[in-house]
Amino acid sequence: MTELPSKGASVTVQATAMEEAKRMVDLITRPEVELTQEEAKAISLETTKNFANHINKGFLEYRKSVTEAGGYAVTEWSGQGSILKDTMGREFIDILGGFGIYCPGIRHPRIVESVKGQLDRTPQYSQEMLDPLRAHLSKLLAMLTPGDIQYGFFANSGTEAVEGAMKLAKFYTGKKGFISMLKGFHGKTLGSLSLMGKSIFRKPLLPLLEGVHHTPFGDANALEQTLASARAVGDEIAAVIIEPIQGEAGAIVPPDEFLPRLREICNHYEVLLIADEVQTGMGRTGTIFGMDHWNVTPDIMCLGKALGGGVVPISAFCPLRKSGSAWNRIPLCTPQRPAATPLPAQQLWPTFRSCWKKTFLPSQRKKENTSSINWPGSKAGIPMCFLRLGEKACSSAWNFPPMK
Ligand SMILES: Cc1ncc(COP(=O)(O)O)c(C=O)c1O
Repeated sequence: MTELPSKGASVTVQATAMEEAKRMVDLITRPEVELTQEEAKAISLETTKNFANHINKGFLEYRKSVTEAGGYAVTEWSGQGSILKDTMGREFIDILGGFGIYCPGIRHPRIVESVKGQLDRTPQYSQEMLDPLRAHLSKLLAMLTPGDIQYGFFANSGTEAVEGAMKLAKFYTGKKGFISMLKGFHGKTLGSLSLMGKSIFRKPLLPLLEGVHHTPFGDANALEQTLASARAVGDEIAAVIIEPIQGEAGAIVPPDEFLPRLREICNHYEVLLIADEVQTGMGRTGTIFGMDHWNVTPDIMCLGKALGGGVVPISAFCPLRKSGSAWNRIPLCTPQRPAATPLPAQQLWPTFRSCWKKTFLPSQRKKENTSSINWPGSKAGIPMCFLRLGEKACSSAWNFPPMK
């Protein structure tokens, strides 16, 4: 492991940085089997040190994979389907799914193939010419999202999608307030954080956006009361934002009447309904979108995580056709440089349905002794833990070849 020379010697530092970069490129471009035990151990130790020195020590304290892994922290090195392998060659069944990014599994062959195809042409887009893939993906989303959803604007992270949806709601309604749910989670940039329903995340950064109210998830009467009270005091609400099934809060499924009533209440009070499907979208709960369980169409849908096929970061917010002139104002005030390539999402559609259902069949969960998983009902298939088990069951469920 190379120690950093003092920054004063800048030529030496640059040379060392070049060597460091070359060493890592060499390791990751080499076939995995060629990694020696010494190299594997060195990467693990070095990663722990780099996290402490150059990312954040906090990660080493709260990540179970670090504290429970004996001498060598679990340092992920490769993955396929439902299996992750660390540098030491230990295998783990991935039932955390990267908190939703790995909905189609790790390195799904069709997704990887399509991304490689795009990398060989134009990996990103120039931002000056028209790019066909982005336009095509918007069209696909329009076809697959419920109701009259017509457009798509792409960003990198879920929180950016939520920020975009908030801006659009303000433009469209001319109002500034929002209602979100207690324990709700919508991301950690300042706007999304204002919607957050947990004090642990919000409190250190108060004051956040004004005009945000919170009501209990699943309680339509309470929501209506909040809207009525806001109206009574002249506090204009632009939108209600909801996770169809709360993810971060612990996979909470609302009562069946909740979302249909929410839709009616929003119509009545002329506020928009934003569905944050960053966690529940793309087949995560067994339907394409979480809202599909209740056949409710939101005015704006936010997507992220699994939209990138577990391969690239991409997110989107997608409004109804009626958003018209408000929508046209969005490019002026919303970050427009998505790092993501749109193709993974295009490949994702044909594959995610069967994959997701196959992988998390209840019978398989039992077989693998994963009974400690919080599995609150057929609508919320959101696994929340990480086990070390054999690979056989997983690779067969996914029809992937076992990892070499
Ligand atoms: C429902 C929901 N919305 C938004 C986000 C934020 O997504 P990101 O971390 O990509 O910004 C998350 C992240 O977990 C989420 O669960």
